Amino acid sequence: MTEIKQNFSLKAYNSFGIDVIATQFLEINTIDDLVSFPALRSSPRPKILILGGGSNVLFINDFNGLVLKNNLKGIAIVKETETEVWIKAASGEIWNELVEYCVSKNYGGIENLSLIPGTVGAAPMQNIGAYGAELKDVFDALEAVNLNDLKTYTFNYEQCRFGYRESVFKHELKDQYFISSVTIRLQKFPKINSSYGQIQHELDKEGVTNPGIADISRIVCQIRKSKLPDPAVIGNAGSFFKNPEITQAQYIELKKIWPEMPGYQTEKGIKVPAAWLIESCGWKGRRIGETGTHVEHALVLVNYGHAKGAEVKALALEIIKSVKDKFGVELNTEVNIV
Ligand code: EPU
Repeated sequence: MTEIKQNFSLKAYNSFGIDVIATQFLEINTIDDLVSFPALRSSPRPKILILGGGSNVLFINDFNGLVLKNNLKGIAIVKETETEVWIKAASGEIWNELVEYCVSKNYGGIENLSLIPGTVGAAPMQNIGAYGAELKDVFDALEAVNLNDLKTYTFNYEQCRFGYRESVFKHELKDQYFISSVTIRLQKFPKINSSYGQIQHELDKEGVTNPGIADISRIVCQIRKSKLPDPAVIGNAGSFFKNPEITQAQYIELKKIWPEMPGYQTEKGIKVPAAWLIESCGWKGRRIGETGTHVEHALVLVNYGHAKGAEVKALALEIIKSVKDKFGVELNTEVNIV
């Protein structure tokens, strides 16, 4: 059983590097640490926050409750056929370490998701996605402990209700389950996905004509490193907002005024890059005190060192307002504000 810490700083446990205090902090190294913890069996149980890599959260206040820091480890092949392999990873594993493991074995399916910060448990929570791939494309099942009865349940694809950076765990089941493992289904004869323009462009530039998944992973890492700030150097949580989806009719109207506005067809309408909208409002690279938008990418809000969560949130609200005033488009945050 790990030792509970009282009045504990979360600064080192969130990639924004915001210094807030949690009333109680418990590291979960085994499922038993979780299910046998007395406070979880008491009634009423304390307010709970589950932290993986802390790479998608903005703390605006001290957390008056119990933080469960997920350290569950283990990666195993649980099933395989001649062409496919099912890999079960404990939720506290670092996502990119799972990617590196799969790429090294030539198991294809998550190479486009290289270098996404955070843990395996957070991946289904917000259906992580990048460079033309999403977790849901390889998802098989997950196991999660219900924090009310402390029993483990299995969730299949349908039950997770994945959407764009969405799942049931961000909505109806928010704060009710502790995801303990995720099983993904990968290909032994990988199909390369270079559909995202910049990947193909980089492959051409390097003269790679028959890429393998290691090439894709390497190029994705290069692209990410070239425009997304490293949280170890400058605090951030990746894209702060989701890319808004607007109707075809609204897009046509906006294009009359801003012909250069990019947009991508989706099932629901047109997805417009939030970064473009934000940059067009003059925010890119602007610094306000200890916070601002990143110089290389307008969608990433940063902490220059001593920002308070409230300052970052105030900036986010100003950005939302100016995008709304100029384009009539509503931005929604991707990052969880706690
Ligand atoms: N753009 C600008 N200004 C900028 C940056 C981008 O105008 O400062 C425009 C460009 O037109 C560019 C377009 O925005 O072509 C898209 O930019 P980018 O390829 O960087 O992707 P994104 O839409 O900003 C999304 C994800 C990222 C993911 C990339 C690559 C969301 C909210 N974000 O960003 O995910 O890495 O695509 O697939 O969907 C994250 O979720 O934290 C994240 C980093």
